[in-house]
Amino acid sequence: RASADLPDLLLAWYDRHRRRLPWRAEPGSRADPYHVWLSEIMLQQTTVATVGPYFRRFLELWPTVSDLAAADLDPVLHAWQGLGYYARARNLHKCAQAVVARHGGVFPDTEDALLDLPGIGSYTAAAIAAIAFDRPATPVDGNFERVFARLHAVETPLPQAKPMLRDLAAQATPARRPGDYAQAVMDLGATICVPRSPKCMACPWMEPCAARRLGIAEQLPRKAEK
Ligand code: ADE
Repeated sequence: RASADLPDLLLAWYDRHRRRLPWRAEPGSRADPYHVWLSEIMLQQTTVATVGPYFRRFLELWPTVSDLAAADLDPVLHAWQGLGYYARARNLHKCAQAVVARHGGVFPDTEDALLDLPGIGSYTAAAIAAIAFDRPATPVDGNFERVFARLHAVETPLPQAKPMLRDLAAQATPARRPGDYAQAVMDLGATICVPRSPKCMACPWMEPCAARRLGIAEQLPRKAEK
């Protein structure tokens, strides 16, 4: 029996169930790298629901990265109020200025060049490269780790399992639609493959999921005892 491969199963699910989020582009088009960068920085310790209004407000005040770079720091910190971790807001401002100074106000389109910017680590560089530029980069966050720990029934606890999960996730990233694929894994982790009571019956990866087959999905990923 012919069966669709893992990315195809997930992308078909994403095409029907993708979340509509303020920073996402319409289906079939690429998101603005400024929007992707801003949302990813805001989402770093904050929920999707909280970030929405802040994201919209920032775009009203500073429609482009050049506008943000030209702003004084004070109004940026003020608009950030409630998101916490002011170091992130300072870095945000610094990064906007670096994008203008080094790249003429245009976000670079490779993971390496993105990584060189202030406040952009490996997760954020991969997220921007994938989502804004459709490059086969893999932004591995907690959602990715949980999904891949379950898919492959990785019993090694976190944090030891991190490098292994990163490899498994990177190897699975498709050449076709890598940006949609990355966002699909994020949505799967947020809505189906959730930490408690995962909704396996609604999961596009139910059949290939090793943890589901073993009946241990909810127990993964394991955590090292403190
Ligand atoms: N969490 C972090 N980045 C996200 C994104 N781009 N979409 C949805 N949830 C996210």
